[in-house]
Amino acid sequence: MIKYLGSKRTLVPVLGDVAASIGARTAVDLFTGTTRVAQEFKRRGVTVTATDIATYSAVLSDCYIATDAAAIDLDELDDVLARLAALPPRAGYFTETFCVQSRFFHPKNGARVDAVRDALEAEYRDSPLYPILLTSLLLGADRVDSTTGVQMAYLKQWAPRASNDLELRRPELLVGSGRTLLGDATETVDLLEPVDLMYLDPPYNQHRYFTNYHIWETLVRWDEPEAYGVARKRIDARDEASKSVFNSKREMAPAFADLLRRARAEVVVVSYNDESWITADEMMTALRDAGHADVRMLAFDSKRYVGAQIGIFSPAGKKVGEVKRLRNLEYVFVAGPTEKVDAAISTASSTRPPVPG
Ligand SMILES: C[S@@+](CC[C@H](N)C(=O)[O-])C[C@H]1O[C@@H](n2cnc3c(N)ncnc32)[C@H](O)[C@@H]1O
Repeated sequence: MIKYLGSKRTLVPVLGDVAASIGARTAVDLFTGTTRVAQEFKRRGVTVTATDIATYSAVLSDCYIATDAAAIDLDELDDVLARLAALPPRAGYFTETFCVQSRFFHPKNGARVDAVRDALEAEYRDSPLYPILLTSLLLGADRVDSTTGVQMAYLKQWAPRASNDLELRRPELLVGSGRTLLGDATETVDLLEPVDLMYLDPPYNQHRYFTNYHIWETLVRWDEPEAYGVARKRIDARDEASKSVFNSKREMAPAFADLLRRARAEVVVVSYNDESWITADEMMTALRDAGHADVRMLAFDSKRYVGAQIGIFSPAGKKVGEVKRLRNLEYVFVAGPTEKVDAAISTASSTRPPVPG
């Protein structure tokens, strides 16, 4: 999976156990990001809708959630991946913007991304393989980038992995059904059918995913936007339309409380952490005000994201600050009818700790 801020890799077993313990048959992952949690729900036999404002998330969801592995001819998929991987490199917008004007990828890999992405658009746009192939390219590019995990800056010295050759591996598809809904949660929440379980994992601070992962937006949209600054960000990063209310300290809490009131699910699960704008008490109150009979919370000690482990970097890759804390608390709030909340909490508290130590 791609490197992603706030990705719930370590909480996945807990959240999967929660879904199983309440007998969920339908679920929504409202801020799906990498789709990791939605994938775990699907693995447990739940029919999932994955939503996010990011277009790369929608592609990941079309691949892992909306595609039923049983409907895909894996031999054909492997043949197509092998053919795409053998295309001659051809430097274009991606190479110029992210390998010459900036140094996010080695030019040899940039030229292969250009060639593969052009072929996907020309030959596979209407194929059911399209999101799978594009996911393979996205994951392949992520494995050879030269960043600390966000695309606001590239490293001054090439990351060792950047000199590896881009590989197109087959994504691990899942059997089952699901759906993708691309859009702003403040709007999509009203379009969703009522479900057994809704999981909400909103952004935690002012750092926008649209700018942190602008290269994935561009790779998926393939729209060659005007770029600005050292990181060659998309010019529409300056538009209001690409901003999220959940990245605004002033607007986040009321907007999230409003979202909780509109979320139509028997059980609502929220993850958040202890460094963010809404305190645990406020979150419990917002969930109670949304009409849930019972609200409880679990806290998990968690390692902070990888960028924070190694320091704070300037756009030129110079270390400009030290990280003060390397651990934080991940909160998981569970809200719903008492018997379901009881079941979820007793199962989740006995799930093995998500992080060693
Ligand atoms: C903490 S991350 C979710 C991580 C995800 N649970 C995972 O494990 O990969 C928050 C997500 O919220 C999305 N997001 C931000 N603002 C949004 C909005 N207004 N509507 C929908 N999604 C939004 C971001 O694109 C990002 O993927």
